[in-house]
Amino acid sequence: MNFTKETRVTLNDGNMMPILGLGTYAAPDVPKSLAEDAVKVAIDLGYRHIDGAFITGNEMQIGNAIRCKIAEGVIKREDLFYTGKLWCTYFSPEMVRKGLERSLRDMGLDYLDLFLMHWPVSLKPTGAADPSDTDKPFIYDNVDFCATWEALEACKDAGLVKSLGVSNFNRRQLERLLNKPGLKYKPVCNQVECHIYLNQNKLHSYCKSKDIVVVAYSVLGSHRDKNWVDLSLPVLLDDPILNKIAAKYNRSSAEVAMRFILQKGIVVLAKSFSPARIRQNLGVFEFELKPEDMKTLDSLDRNLHYGPFKEVKQHPEYPFHDEY
Ligand SMILES: NC(=O)c1ccc[n+]([C@@H]2O[C@H](COP(=O)([O-])OP(=O)(O)OC[C@H]3O[C@@H](n4cnc5c(N)ncnc54)[C@H](OP(=O)(O)O)[C@@H]3O)[C@@H](O)[C@H]2O)c1
Repeated sequence: MNFTKETRVTLNDGNMMPILGLGTYAAPDVPKSLAEDAVKVAIDLGYRHIDGAFITGNEMQIGNAIRCKIAEGVIKREDLFYTGKLWCTYFSPEMVRKGLERSLRDMGLDYLDLFLMHWPVSLKPTGAADPSDTDKPFIYDNVDFCATWEALEACKDAGLVKSLGVSNFNRRQLERLLNKPGLKYKPVCNQVECHIYLNQNKLHSYCKSKDIVVVAYSVLGSHRDKNWVDLSLPVLLDDPILNKIAAKYNRSSAEVAMRFILQKGIVVLAKSFSPARIRQNLGVFEFELKPEDMKTLDSLDRNLHYGPFKEVKQHPEYPFHDEY
């Protein structure tokens, strides 16, 4: 398995996604400027895939970094793959394009490479509709995500986005979307939490059968932002078996946690705002895990969600009541 930082996977619409992406979520108290610095460092080091989201509230800074690296001649726009996400308060068909255009405006870009429905649940555009507005609770809405999808298809036809996908969808929800009468574009990917404690084997094999790429988030055990993550959950990178395998390869536990996902044929996102760790994580391309170590890591699965988004648990489209 000769993966390099240049390796891309071909999506079902013919576009290509780099197999390693830089994550950019940080807790609200982290200065937004750190995202800008991190994206610049990552691009200089050869990352070509940046994962972002409107709700994270730092798309302006990510856009600055991307445009800066284009102006410096380090990359051309077409070299870079940026993923944005439609927040759940923008699911009404008449809001979808507005949501996308807001990201484009904030970032100073003409198009996004990939735009995802962030979760399958719709929320009313009140309270936490805006990243700067931390006013909770979330108020449930009942927009059918198939209607949202049709509006997203129109955005692709208008050239505002190259590829469309979903995030945090379960199998039943993917099936419903794929069986939607008149479906014009299939989702190219399903971005889900996926790591040694949540290997997503069943969802992955279903997605594979439909030519949908799985993109893994929280591969390193998540950001552990106390607003979203129960801090009593185990620290993934401290796992003794993971560390034992890492020592065997003379690699960090982060590199092994990432490599495990890559070798399963899943695209990896890893967030870091530390230049040293952004660099270290590229070490994922410098070694290969043996089949027996892949098997051991696979056996660590315990169906653990670091980010269960409990606030929407009563929503009829909450994805994690189903087995997968
Ligand atoms: N679609 C969704 O609903 C969804 C949900 C969650 C996340 N995501 C996306 O996926 C990305 C990644 O997931 P995540 O942010 O939950 O977390 P993650 O990538 O699993 O972990 C990030 C944490 O690991 C640390 N870290 C990074 N490299 C390290 C290394 N080599 N050694 C030790 N620690 C290291 C980071 O700290 P430093 O920054 O200090 O290095 C940060 O605290 C997000 O940023 C976001 O883009 C999407």
